[in-house]
Amino acid sequence: MSKRNICISAPGKIILAGEHAVVYGYPAIAAAIEKRTYVTLSCGENYANFVKLLIEILPQTPIAQIKDKIQKISQNTITAEFCSELPIGCGIGSSASFAAALSAALFLLQHSTLNTEKVNELAYSFEKTQHGNPSGVDNAVAVFGGFLRFQKISEQQKKFSFLKTKIHFPSMFLLNTGKPIETTKEMVGLVQKRFQHSKQNIERIFNEIAQVVAQVERILLTQHQLDQFALLLQSNEMLLEELGVVGDRAQSMIRNIEKIGGIAKICGAGGVTKGSGVALVMHKDPEKLVEFTKKHNIKLEAIELGSEGVRLEKMRAD
Ligand code: PMV
Repeated sequence: MSKRNICISAPGKIILAGEHAVVYGYPAIAAAIEKRTYVTLSCGENYANFVKLLIEILPQTPIAQIKDKIQKISQNTITAEFCSELPIGCGIGSSASFAAALSAALFLLQHSTLNTEKVNELAYSFEKTQHGNPSGVDNAVAVFGGFLRFQKISEQQKKFSFLKTKIHFPSMFLLNTGKPIETTKEMVGLVQKRFQHSKQNIERIFNEIAQVVAQVERILLTQHQLDQFALLLQSNEMLLEELGVVGDRAQSMIRNIEKIGGIAKICGAGGVTKGSGVALVMHKDPEKLVEFTKKHNIKLEAIELGSEGVRLEKMRAD
């Protein structure tokens, strides 16, 4: 088999509504964002013998060791380069985006064409090693892109549909409330403890989140009510705060944005001790938001929602 060089990218994500509840089988809505992870695999002669082995072993390997493992297993026939535009561990799907890009690259080396369903399954197995009990929403958005309604019916059955939204989002921003000290696995574990301790209350919060998800879905599909959409995201934020996954620092930043007429919602697992990761911010008058964040030295980043999923950036065969 001849030499090959392949580069695949996959997007990060934000969860518009339904994080945490989605781990318990409730629906969530997420969108891919145009911040991507790039995985390049450079393969020497006879690389094919090693790809099967890599597909078997890498999903069980912690992310930090993957690069070395690829070289070791392939006896230096395959080398890997990774680069990402996503902040690591800040709730916008950096690990899933990496898992999706790497899975797609390995799959393409093995089969010559991409089967996104299979790539998604492979990416999910990487995520399980990383996060323990993930819902699978992050990797699904990273693989398929766009806007996704996702529901984990069981470990074997995950239901998702693409939402072809009719909303044009004028101005959406990301604001980093600080990198959480806690990992996604720890935050999911914290919610699990609360669930075991006060099941009724947590189920009530999850049910309310599910109602928000249903309304967000309806608005995305049928109406142009941006005001209503923003209020729903704010409700979801309040429910996440009640769930106990948003720390004081993020809460205070979010309240300040609300005071000037905007809304903000964290969009991943959150964090309590320090930062709670990246928040999605909206305001009817974006100028006000820009002015406010400038004054307080807060970095705000404009973002487009609904980006493409895994993408072949470059492939060369010699
Ligand atoms: O913080 P992130 O990007 O890993 O998002 C996690 C989303 C959760 O709903 C909290 C967990 C999951 O597996 O869905």
